[in-house]
Amino acid sequence: MDSIHIQGGIALQGQVRIQGSKNAALPVLAATLLTMERSYIRNCPRIADVHAMVSLLRSLGCLVTWCGDGLQVDSSQVSRGAMQGEAVKGMRSSLCLLGALLGRCGEAVLEHPGGCVIGERPIDLHLWALEQMGVVFSEENGMIQGTTRGLHGARIVLPIPSVGATENIILAGTMAEGDTRIEGAAKEPEITALCRYLQGCGAVMEGVGTDRLLIHGGNKLYGTEFAVPSDRIVAGTYLMACIGTGGSVLLEKAPADEMEAVLDTASRMGASFWVSEEGIYVQASGHPRAVERLVTLPYPGFPTDLQSAALAVLAAAEGRSIVEERIFENRFRVAVELNRMGACIEQVNAHMAVARGIGQLRGARVEARELRGGAALVIAGLMAQGETVVTGCPYIYRGYENICRDFRELGARIASV
Ligand code: UD1
Repeated sequence: MDSIHIQGGIALQGQVRIQGSKNAALPVLAATLLTMERSYIRNCPRIADVHAMVSLLRSLGCLVTWCGDGLQVDSSQVSRGAMQGEAVKGMRSSLCLLGALLGRCGEAVLEHPGGCVIGERPIDLHLWALEQMGVVFSEENGMIQGTTRGLHGARIVLPIPSVGATENIILAGTMAEGDTRIEGAAKEPEITALCRYLQGCGAVMEGVGTDRLLIHGGNKLYGTEFAVPSDRIVAGTYLMACIGTGGSVLLEKAPADEMEAVLDTASRMGASFWVSEEGIYVQASGHPRAVERLVTLPYPGFPTDLQSAALAVLAAAEGRSIVEERIFENRFRVAVELNRMGACIEQVNAHMAVARGIGQLRGARVEARELRGGAALVIAGLMAQGETVVTGCPYIYRGYENICRDFRELGARIASV
């Protein structure tokens, strides 16, 4: 299942259910470590990153079982913070276990987390923030060791609204003695989901959904049931595919209220949409339009995770588009592959690319080098004339439950081989 073969040029039609959110499920699963009881996390996506998180939790002593569309996690037997192994390699989200383990066990040993090759992705803010809460870190042979004699609350002013750092502070702050105040917190919906889960367990916090969070630490947490929200990035990926192919699609359960900037961009690209209780209905006809400037920003701005998908569509649009990447510095690698399909994308610098829309991409053999860039190549293949083969697909399976099945349901000729 290393490659995906696509016969492009078919307008997508029909309806597709949007899976649960990867970026919400992972920190919530990490947070189950903070209770001594069983939690049931519903609507968990069955993706490689979640399977890796399940392995990590099991290696720590949790009893984890798939049950219906979710995971039951019993964390009552966890006693050690050390963990290593293949699972943590290549999964940056294992980083959110740091705050959870320090909160639960007072210690954590992690391999330096990997992740997508989309930039430097330092973890200095995570370590700096946790140090202010009473953690001492050391690093040896690529392993990060954190220990604490007891977490205490702190006032933390984040210079960048880092999603992962905000999550780690919330996880540690929930177990800390006293209040933790985060100023400049990230406001991504996945952080709100984490807070809602923790509140369901009995945690007390204020300012949820804003950039100023106040966590009253030290409350006993209980197990609870929680439904992971739908994945706004998967919904956005399928939305872009619909626009790129000139189709009409119902994105069932797509979280429209979290997708304002994406829907605004969809309109600028020439698509119409209607939001109902069922989800988002998208109607695109003919060629997508170029957008003068598309800028990625922290939430509620246009998400960096959809920049590559948008770039694929703009590559075939009528006209010239400027795409500015403000979050990660290495997110235009996919442009090289898109250019192999006939696109005319010039990378001006690490943060800016210009796409001169060429009207029609042509099929080619291209390689996925990271998750979201890989999904963008699939979209490009759906739009292109002729056959496209995307290799390196395990990256894509990290975040998409079954991208081939979903696009097949919408009429595409696509198969994983
Ligand atoms: C999370 C998401 C990822 C998304 C990203 C931005 C998960 C599992 N991943 O990643 O899909 O693309 O948010 O929305 O939820 N930074 C530092 N020092 C740090 C931490 C971050 O300088 O210690 C910088 C990063 O290099 C980047 C920016 O802060 O430029 C934002 O990164 P961050 O929000 O932390 O992204 P992740 O949590 O890794």
